[in-house]
Amino acid sequence: MRIDVFSLFPQAFDWYRTQVHVRRAQELGHELAVWNYRDYTPLAHLQVDDTPYGGGAGMVLRIDVVCAALEAVFHEPAEGLRERRRVVELTPRGRQLDDGLAAELAQRDLVVLCGRYEGIDERVANLVTDRVSIGPYVLSGGEIAAMALVDAVLRKVEGVISNPQSVVSESHSPELGGATEYPQYTRPAEFRGWAVPEVLLSGDHGAVERWRREQVGRGFAPPRDAC
Ligand SMILES: C[S@@+](CC[C@H](N)C(=O)[O-])C[C@H]1O[C@@H](n2cnc3c(N)ncnc32)[C@H](O)[C@@H]1O
Repeated sequence: MRIDVFSLFPQAFDWYRTQVHVRRAQELGHELAVWNYRDYTPLAHLQVDDTPYGGGAGMVLRIDVVCAALEAVFHEPAEGLRERRRVVELTPRGRQLDDGLAAELAQRDLVVLCGRYEGIDERVANLVTDRVSIGPYVLSGGEIAAMALVDAVLRKVEGVISNPQSVVSESHSPELGGATEYPQYTRPAEFRGWAVPEVLLSGDHGAVERWRREQVGRGFAPPRDAC
């Protein structure tokens, strides 16, 4: 698949793009490109935003700038992109990202529009298939949200995670009925009096399996002495 992210701060993705599973995705033929709206603005002085009609605080990313960037990259009218791709605007007003939506987004090429400041001009609704939030809180820009979304999507793409089983039965997956995974432990078996559940050391695979099934969906209790 091809993923194109549009942002005013593409350098925010530099670290993410070096991650091993992202590089593996690229080796498998998938693409992740990050574009800067500012590089394609038709306005003087590299302007990309403007004050909101009706007044109010902050600046709004202009729709003509967003269209110019999309059209420069895809060489087709911005309104038509959503016929063959999922085009996602990241916004705290959107549908909340979950495992099911990530799996859906992994089915087609994806365009991700990051906002900044007060967000993108509402007429972006004419370009997108989805408006997605990563949670009920406000970030300063769409870059962190885009990395969360792209990462959740890439984990759904075959071969990107080297051990396919670890993706199939993860927290929130259909395999676990949408519930959270069982807890994981590793060596040492005891540390500062904190012991690993005995069943995991028993070598009894059936008992381990039963214990894990019981733990699914339990989450964890907050420690009693925490503030
Ligand atoms: C400061 S926010 C704009 C908030 C907007 N004025 C509001 O109150 O809904 C700037 C940009 O950050 C991104 N953003 C912030 N919070 C987000 C969230 N929870 N999910 C997805 N994107 C978010 C969006 O791309 C948004 O356009």
